[in-house]
Amino acid sequence: MFTKKTIKDIDLSGKTVLLRADYNVPVEDGKITDDYRLQQSLPTLHYLLEQDVKLIICSHLGRPTGPGDTTNSLFPVAKRLKQLLKRDVEFAPDCIGERAEKAAKNLKSGQVLLLENLRFHPEEEKNDPEFAKQLASLADVFVQDGFGVVHRAHASTDAITKFLPSVAGLLLEKEVDTITNVMEKPERPLVAIIGGAKIADKIDLLHRFIEIADVVAVGGAMANTFLVAEGIDVAQSLYDKVDLPVARDIMRKARTEAKKRRFIFAIPHDGVVAHKMDKTAPTRIVDWSAHVIADIETYPHRPPARASHILWQEMILDIGPFSGSFIAGGVQLANTVVWNGTMGVTETPSLQGPVGPYAHGTELVIEALLGQFGHKPFTVVGGGDTVGYLENRGLVNSFGHVSTGGGASLELMAGRKLPGVEALEDKK
Ligand code: 3PG
Ligand code: MG
Repeated sequence: MFTKKTIKDIDLSGKTVLLRADYNVPVEDGKITDDYRLQQSLPTLHYLLEQDVKLIICSHLGRPTGPGDTTNSLFPVAKRLKQLLKRDVEFAPDCIGERAEKAAKNLKSGQVLLLENLRFHPEEEKNDPEFAKQLASLADVFVQDGFGVVHRAHASTDAITKFLPSVAGLLLEKEVDTITNVMEKPERPLVAIIGGAKIADKIDLLHRFIEIADVVAVGGAMANTFLVAEGIDVAQSLYDKVDLPVARDIMRKARTEAKKRRFIFAIPHDGVVAHKMDKTAPTRIVDWSAHVIADIETYPHRPPARASHILWQEMILDIGPFSGSFIAGGVQLANTVVWNGTMGVTETPSLQGPVGPYAHGTELVIEALLGQFGHKPFTVVGGGDTVGYLENRGLVNSFGHVSTGGGASLELMAGRKLPGVEALEDKK
């Protein structure tokens, strides 16, 4: 399946290896708050160290404005890597030039050196060949294992491959293989659950899933744009006005698909609303299509209009229980699920307990995916926010595959070529 050479296809013993990782991790007050990307790169590091290589690792962190922007230093990563590897990790305060060269030269077999943020040099993002050449001069072999960044054609993902034999690491291989597999030959039924803030980021993904999935369910603020397109008054809810034609177009395509074959495109039927996005704001459920809960609760009276209408001061902050159950039902029938994007504003902390006031829809989806209702499908999870939420909840190891890539996994799923993968050597 994976057509590029990997570290297992070449002889590395005694060589100096330059490994491109994606250690773009969240750092607060000099401490890493989520080390999933580091954890996931360990099998590659262990394998390389077993080959007695001299291991030089490079990465970017954040989007620094230049060398003076020390808030984006990779130094905290060196410290954490040392703990994870249980061995010393040297740190060079620059990725090229005298200091990097000296540190590289002093390296012995089995030793690890982490270079400072590649993006402290603007040449990195410009895919500058001169900069790439200087980086390449530090090593004998280049290994690409930064799956999260291979959708960028930068010096350390593209230009560098012109100067060194270049192969894939084990994380890159696993990511590309798993994601390509669920898109190209999933065990059906295939259910796609797509959330997050913006349709704009996921247009291609939605189109592709309408073509290949059995169910596509949308949630998150993105769903609000679909609701507006369907004529629902979402009041103060966040939605993308400019993407309304896109939403209409997607709905049209989904309806056409549903006439051709058994296919469901689900937008929310109910939502959790509040006056503001705050942990202290009272919440209520608005059910704009079925009204079941309100009918039961107000019997023998008729439910008030507000039970099915979002009031002018309110905004949708999560999917409601009916919509969550609908998705959970789809999950019961699925053999493969691709999940990208949370169903609501999961970042808002709770006044008590681990689950925030607008995270219940996401929690319901997680319960379904983890087999709480009987059946556990193979699930591929992608997207930075979604993975971050799972990491916070301690659930990152409970799914079939949790991708380390945000943009990269979206582009791969949408069927686009990844420049950082294309540039590597083909298997014979
Ligand atoms: C990411 O976290 O999305 C990757 O590390 C790529 O970073 P970038 O979006 O700043 O290029
Ligand atoms: Mg990004």
